[in-house]
Amino acid sequence: MAMKVGLIGVGDISNKYVDNLKKYPHIVEVYGCAARNYEKTCVRARVLGIPRVYESPDALLADPEIDVVLNLTTPDAHAKYNLAALEAGKHVYTEKPLAATFEEGRMIMELAWEKGLSVCCAPDTFLGGRVQAMRAAIDAGVIGPIGSGDVSMLAHGWECFHPNVGFYYRPGGGPALDMGPYYLTALVALLGPVEAVTAMTNRAQDTRYIPSTGEELPVEVDTHVAGVLKFRSGAIVNVTLSFDVWDSARPRMELYGTKGSLIMPEPHPNSGPNIFGGKIWMRKAEDFRWGVMPCPPGMEEKPFDELLYDRPFSETGHDRNSRGVGLIDQVRALQENRPARADGTMALHVLEVLESLDIAAKEERWIRMQTTCERPAPLPEYDPFAK
Ligand SMILES: NC(=O)c1ccc[n+]([C@@H]2O[C@H](COP(=O)([O-])OP(=O)(O)OC[C@H]3O[C@@H](n4cnc5c(N)ncnc54)[C@H](O)[C@@H]3O)[C@@H](O)[C@H]2O)c1
Repeated sequence: MAMKVGLIGVGDISNKYVDNLKKYPHIVEVYGCAARNYEKTCVRARVLGIPRVYESPDALLADPEIDVVLNLTTPDAHAKYNLAALEAGKHVYTEKPLAATFEEGRMIMELAWEKGLSVCCAPDTFLGGRVQAMRAAIDAGVIGPIGSGDVSMLAHGWECFHPNVGFYYRPGGGPALDMGPYYLTALVALLGPVEAVTAMTNRAQDTRYIPSTGEELPVEVDTHVAGVLKFRSGAIVNVTLSFDVWDSARPRMELYGTKGSLIMPEPHPNSGPNIFGGKIWMRKAEDFRWGVMPCPPGMEEKPFDELLYDRPFSETGHDRNSRGVGLIDQVRALQENRPARADGTMALHVLEVLESLDIAAKEERWIRMQTTCERPAPLPEYDPFAK
């Protein structure tokens, strides 16, 4: 039977989730929603086609019908509602980051473990065709063991599209906690857990002009992070996460193995591991130049742009956006009694890594991770959840 999902938060990203979840009615039912302002939520629920609106998040949490809470609030409210949902006996799927701080993230996972409930966390883009194809190539040894790499998320913030951009410059936001989860989750899925980190950080501006409101907002977090990650596998990866760059021609991800290199070549900020599809270039020792990587078995007939979970253009501009597939996998995992791929244990590890970049910079040192996680199981099929 389908599990009933209650949304807390129905802002910019919610339409994509609702669209995608409704494609799997045999797995989940979008049952009801709540957010900060009841009247606005009623309007939003009509647009999204959500049948029930609760007066408040507390009222939603008190409904015994709801099995899973989908937390789509802003990062400052993630911990509050993740903890409250667990206290109410619900499973949780939350937008990233798991919480605004590692300490809060740890409290969430400890409560979930104590209560035997499942917490999963975005991003689920690592389940998309591109990262899965890279995973298949790496696991098959095509480029040999990976010794090093480079990831770059270079952008000028989201004032260009987001109607409520302030939270990106408050604690819980910034390029590390906002975009870092996509890059780190992909790296952990490809290379395994991180052992230690170091970094330097700064901010180019103390205030940001918000075109949609004409306001000048204070910047409360560092907006340029240059770090180095050492993975347990031995690989060393440079990581640059920035909201202070107008443009760049650097690829979003490069991985260097003993027998070749594998890269996500596009330099645009919305073309890295924060999307589901996209190109992969490979150059092996014996090759003369870069080539587009062939699809792994089972995906041959699909061009890369249509690979796993790529969906049509959405109103918010998140084209080829399958957000929510991590929740679909979570519910299937609960039914099949197996680990979910987007499990909160990985999100907690990613949060520790990202927070540690900031601490390492401020304290001028390198930091060894306290947490670890398993690599999530690969997802090699086109859409295993269709039936
Ligand atoms: N917008 C995007 O492009 C995008 C993409 C990927 C992930 N995300 C993530 O999704 C989450 C939500 O982002 P968004 O862009 O939809 O934000 P948004 O500001 O558009 O919407 C936030 C929603 O949460 C509700 N909310 C916020 N604080 C609340 C509180 N204390 N109590 C009750 N309700 C509260 C608001 O009422 C609103 O409905 C964030 O974690 C963000 O990082 C956003």
